[in-house]
Amino acid sequence: MSSFPVTRLRRFRRTAPLRDLVRETRLSLDQFVMPLFVAPEALANEELPGMARFDLHGLPHEVERLASAGVRAVMLFGVPWEKDEDATGAWQDTGIVQNALRTLRPRFPELVLLTDVCLCEYTSHGHCGVVVDGEVDNDRSLELLVRTAVSHAEAGADVVAPSDMMDGRVAAIREALDDYGFETTPILSYSAKYASAFYGPFREAADSTPAFGDRRGYQLDPANVREALRECKIDLAEGADAIMIKPALPYLDVIRAAREAFQAPLAAYNVSGEYAMVKAAARAGWLDERDAALESLTAIKRAGADLIVSYWTRDLPAWL
Ligand code: PBG
Repeated sequence: MSSFPVTRLRRFRRTAPLRDLVRETRLSLDQFVMPLFVAPEALANEELPGMARFDLHGLPHEVERLASAGVRAVMLFGVPWEKDEDATGAWQDTGIVQNALRTLRPRFPELVLLTDVCLCEYTSHGHCGVVVDGEVDNDRSLELLVRTAVSHAEAGADVVAPSDMMDGRVAAIREALDDYGFETTPILSYSAKYASAFYGPFREAADSTPAFGDRRGYQLDPANVREALRECKIDLAEGADAIMIKPALPYLDVIRAAREAFQAPLAAYNVSGEYAMVKAAARAGWLDERDAALESLTAIKRAGADLIVSYWTRDLPAWL
């Protein structure tokens, strides 16, 4: 082993072009997904612009801005006109996401349209499944999740992304998509979705805070990594085309472990709380938003994510 003074790692750090030559991780807009909220009424959000809501009229304008700046993929979340026990707004043909898809699909043929498949924004109690005797009933929830996924595919979704954490949902969705002739529609499964405190701003934007209890009966315990790998393995066996870890920054070890264990495309969700913390600190003058955001996103890629869902996607065209 040669060492100093023969070895000097600073030689390749001296100038920007030298550093560029040896950079191991790069960010490309091609691998980012912008989450978008569609709701009956638009709601600006000056403090967290990534968490604004668009109505069906404003949504295509926002998508036009993003697409013309170079964004290639968006993920749609819906806030329905009405919420009920059966999450009707999630799966009905005239639901808000289904309408949004029908508006966007013909106007943006090249744009990748992903949809979040979950019931929490649509149930009166805010849980991700059907509640029976105060508990989220796994198998009863599957039927509604399946209907939701098929209705998204029918309305023009390119990729469906179940985020509910019910057991068996990937297999159920795969089977139904195939039955309805959508055998080419991929499933990006939120395989390892943790019961996290970092979803706070999202729940505000999506109006999906549970009315009672919490999501620990179905989302993963933040203390567990082996269990996350079991979730990924099972989802892949059930037919998931890609798997996702969520949140991202507090779970970089889970991203790395999944990267090493599986060959499938790996996504990470840089969630609302991760975004909001940096925004708040930047507003207080404590750090630079662009630098902190790019460093965060680079860390998520370095840990092993192929694609990243992030509210910063809308800023990346200007930053990269
Ligand atoms: C559930 C869903 C959630 C997020 C994405 N899909 C919230 C939850 O499980 O409470 C969180 C995303 C974020 O915080 O940015 N449909």
